[in-house]
Amino acid sequence: MSDRYLVTGGARLVGEVFVDGAKNSVLKLMAAALLAEGRTVLTNAPQIADVPLMAKVLRGLGAEVEIDGDVVTIDVPAEPDFHADFDAVKQFRASVCVLGPLMARRRRAVVALPGGDAIGSRPLDMHQAGLRALGAQSTIEHGCVVASAETLTGAAIALEFPSVGATENILMAAVLADGVTTIDNAAREPEIIDLCEMLIQMGARIDGVGSPTLTVDGVTDLTPTRHHVVGDRIVAGTWGVAAAMTQGDIRVRGVDPDHLRLVLKKLEDAGADVERFDDGFRVVQEGRPVAVNTATLPYPGYPTDMQPMAIGLATVSEGMSMITENVFEARFRFVEEMVRLGADARTDGHHAVIRGVEKLSSAPVWSSDIRAGVGLVLAGLVADGVTEVHDVEHIDRGYPNFEEQLTALGGRIERVTDAPVD
Ligand code: UD1
Repeated sequence: MSDRYLVTGGARLVGEVFVDGAKNSVLKLMAAALLAEGRTVLTNAPQIADVPLMAKVLRGLGAEVEIDGDVVTIDVPAEPDFHADFDAVKQFRASVCVLGPLMARRRRAVVALPGGDAIGSRPLDMHQAGLRALGAQSTIEHGCVVASAETLTGAAIALEFPSVGATENILMAAVLADGVTTIDNAAREPEIIDLCEMLIQMGARIDGVGSPTLTVDGVTDLTPTRHHVVGDRIVAGTWGVAAAMTQGDIRVRGVDPDHLRLVLKKLEDAGADVERFDDGFRVVQEGRPVAVNTATLPYPGYPTDMQPMAIGLATVSEGMSMITENVFEARFRFVEEMVRLGADARTDGHHAVIRGVEKLSSAPVWSSDIRAGVGLVLAGLVADGVTEVHDVEHIDRGYPNFEEQLTALGGRIERVTDAPVD
């Protein structure tokens, strides 16, 4: 059984929204708390479903976790357990980020592999190769990553692709390794910078933060800290696109506009007026947006997590857009749902070609992941009639207070929970 949204199209979104801390940061920062015995406090944590799930993983490892509004407090014992079992991790992939901290603290880790993912295959080969380079053995056994090491020794590691998760796991293992580790072709997403900043506050020695080469000089101990989670650029960018699609006017607060340079530039190319502030931005769209081409790439490229929104915008823009997906191969699956809403779109390998229409037409659609779900809601806002978006629990995983925020901006959305059938 799942919940669905009824989205009534036609409203122009106008007003102000406040964006909380980033999902893709807070989960890693929670895992990083394992690196130090004692109490770590995270503020500006988003109230999304994945935070309690991560709390469950950490509790399974012996930590005490308390969530009070936007504050997450994690008390880590002197010797955390090293086995994150399937029950704790099965619901979401980000749990894999306990691998690095467990190797750092315990020199052992057994982390069950999460299930399949709707956006494409998500192997862990680079995570494992990185740990091996630091001197660990790492295999997959009975559905778990099993890693162990006598000692972890700094090494020169070059990633084949700037993987966010591999960079984070290697970084968190390296901060307590003996000697110096370099990670070349490291991911440099703002969430990685946020993690580096917290690790440095804890006493880690990291150079090159924000660059493609991280140099980590291992230390013997880290101390717990208090850290403010960086604002969620993907949620912020979603509202920016929502303004452009609905020909609205939205002021977004709680995010560094520099983290959305390309996203905001693309909105300007589509005809929006974008104003940037220290704590956010404002997007005003007068008239129909015009088509723009977009290709996803690791940061500072256009985020793959914004690709469904870029497609949504293209479906109602004037002209033909080409959207190219370079990070997750299966992310275009949701385009079929957009076609159900009347989008003139077709995909070929990495590319989607979309000829914009004036208006979409309402239909029942299914969300397959967080971002696809939100992309479909945005499409429902520019469709005539009432669009039913099914499986909206995905959206709960990444967008705090989504219906409330959308309603406050003038959007018409209602959540329906079906009664169980006997
Ligand atoms: C993180 C984000 C996700 C975002 C993605 C890319 C979290 C919880 N999730 O996912 O929202 O879309 O970054 O910005 O932070 N790959 C390998 N081998 C590996 C690791 C990755 O081949 O060992 C491939 C993946 O299949 C994918 C690409 O590298 O094609 C990028 O993945 P990665 O950057 O690792 O994404 P995640 O950390 O899983």
